[in-house]
Amino acid sequence: MKNYYTKYALLLISGLILNATTWANEDRLFMLVSHCTVCHGPNGSSLGPATPTIAGMNPLTFIKAMEEFRDDERPSTIMKHLAKGYNDEDYKIMADYFAKQQSVPPRQSVDSDKVKRGAKWHKKYCEECHTDESVYTTKSTIIVGQWMPYLRLTLDDFMTGHRDLPLSALKMIRAMLKAEGKESIDDLIHFYASQVE
Ligand code: HEC
Ligand code: HEC
Repeated sequence: MKNYYTKYALLLISGLILNATTWANEDRLFMLVSHCTVCHGPNGSSLGPATPTIAGMNPLTFIKAMEEFRDDERPSTIMKHLAKGYNDEDYKIMADYFAKQQSVPPRQSVDSDKVKRGAKWHKKYCEECHTDESVYTTKSTIIVGQWMPYLRLTLDDFMTGHRDLPLSALKMIRAMLKAEGKESIDDLIHFYASQVE
């Protein structure tokens, strides 16, 4: 863990130096997204388990996320500070850029029994909203191909009420916990991690 943070800090510093020297020469898009890829990885495919992948994210959910971070409506360690530094036009430019990037999912090992159970829970409790057609597909909101630890944190935030979720969705998650037990969350996380192509 210590190594991870050291690496994280070094990455951050090298990113800032890079920004200072290339600032004047590069166009606005490059300037903007280079602030993000320091942490979110090349083209938005994150290399660390605590930072989410944002490549391929639906632009509407991207902008909504930035607005919620800015307005302190969504729990965050870092993004609440960062989001305040950009305007609506910046959000749109960045959202369009990251939406077009091909996500490179992390390699994560999964347990096949959990995957099997997770597939069942997904169909029963989640698929209704996270369909292929909706803005909230498991791909466009980066549930599939996301880091497992980050996904776990996100689901925890929903269950504890730290992050808002429509009541209808929260009810489904609660119903699942009641009927299938706490492990069902872990099953789902393994299932989503297994769905990368
Ligand atoms: C210092 C590291 C860091 C930098 C730089 C950074 N982020 Fe983040 N980002 C995070 C972390 C960590 C999270 C998870 C929320 C939190 O704890 O703040 C996150 C979450 C997000 C999310 C939500 C993803 C989801 O699945 O809902 C979006 C969108 C996002 N960042 C966009 C950006 C953009 C755009 C930039 C560049 C302006 C940027 N980030 C720069 C660390 C960073
Ligand atoms: C009634 C509809 C509905 C159901 C059922 C539902 N969800 Fe969602 N889910 C949503 C909506 C809407 C969002 C976007 C919330 C937001 O950010 O405002 C979301 C967001 C999420 C996110 C966060 C994505 C991100 O990075 O921003 C995860 C993870 C998630 N849902 C998992 C699940 C799981 C697992 C289930 C099944 C147990 C489930 N959802 C059931 C509607 C639903």
